[in-house]
Amino acid sequence: MIQEEYTTEATLSVPESGTVAWESPSNIALVKYWGKKPVQLPANASISFTLKNCYTATKLSFSKADKRSVKVFVGGQEQPSFLKKIETFFERIESYCPYINHYAFKIETENTFPHSSGIASSASGFSALALCVLSIERKAAGLSDADFYKKASFLSRLGSGSACRSVYGPMGVWGAHADYTGSSNDFAVPYDDVHDVFKTYQDTILLVDKGEKKVSSTLGHDLMNDHPFAANRFEQARNHMLELQKILKSGNILDFNRLVEKEALTLHAMMMTSDPYFMLFKPNTLNIIHKVWEKRTSDNIPFTITLDAGANVHLLYPAEYKQLALDFIKDELIAYCQNEQYICDEVGNGPLLKMEHYA
Ligand code: PMV
Repeated sequence: MIQEEYTTEATLSVPESGTVAWESPSNIALVKYWGKKPVQLPANASISFTLKNCYTATKLSFSKADKRSVKVFVGGQEQPSFLKKIETFFERIESYCPYINHYAFKIETENTFPHSSGIASSASGFSALALCVLSIERKAAGLSDADFYKKASFLSRLGSGSACRSVYGPMGVWGAHADYTGSSNDFAVPYDDVHDVFKTYQDTILLVDKGEKKVSSTLGHDLMNDHPFAANRFEQARNHMLELQKILKSGNILDFNRLVEKEALTLHAMMMTSDPYFMLFKPNTLNIIHKVWEKRTSDNIPFTITLDAGANVHLLYPAEYKQLALDFIKDELIAYCQNEQYICDEVGNGPLLKMEHYA
């Protein structure tokens, strides 16, 4: 990586104060990133659908100060417990954004999805914060849109790897891959060489377990370092990226289903075969998967499932099957969801700037 490319002049004339607000979505990977090298560099390339309804809304207020200070409010309540993660993020980005060391920050943030839903808020949360911070620089340095989003993705990655893909819709690719032009380990690139059917995709997230994860993604990634199957897995992911590229272009839903499910199950197979092993599936994760497969065969509906690093099941399908899917969920799947909860989402277009004011 050419560090200078991302580093800003320390002498940049940034605003005295201001407020910036962004909404940035979560994303769901189709080819999964699992395994990383320091700092936050992926062991394999990954690709995701950017979501629309599950997002973090973050407002960053700032005013010049002798040294950096941060206050965080979640849903209107001050939350000092979030400070550690944010401070780590700021430490990682300060060499690229030296102006952050001379502001008192107030971060007000909120997720559209329940905080304890088991849906990772790190992708939406860190991308929203990165976009807010970088808006200050854009105001001072006049970055082009392309440079703005590229650096926002680069900074988001330093918060949480998968966050770098949230900066772009309808899909983001992260990780250098010979068949994806411009792809990089440092930041994600937008991807839209996609048949129309995939642009309408729905993601209904069936909330199986809303509890705190017993094993963090960070630990899971680390366990790939000595994993006996790691080399094969990374090679498989590389091949899947190429296969998926062709599928996305052709619109072949059956091939899409096979590949996406293989990825989801391989992710969890890696967890179950690491040392120490662990399992994020719950009984109802499996109950839902089996019901979906039965329904797909009996009614010939192209439902497919994917999973992130948790017990929840993402049910994916083209928009034309939405009513059928909702009926199926109410009739047969809701019984397996914690408190009968699920979230209706779909492929989205990426983050939205909600407010920008400088003094
Ligand atoms: O970005 P992290 O460290 O939370 O890891 C995300 C890992 C998966 O969600 C399982 C896969 C992915 O590519 O998003």
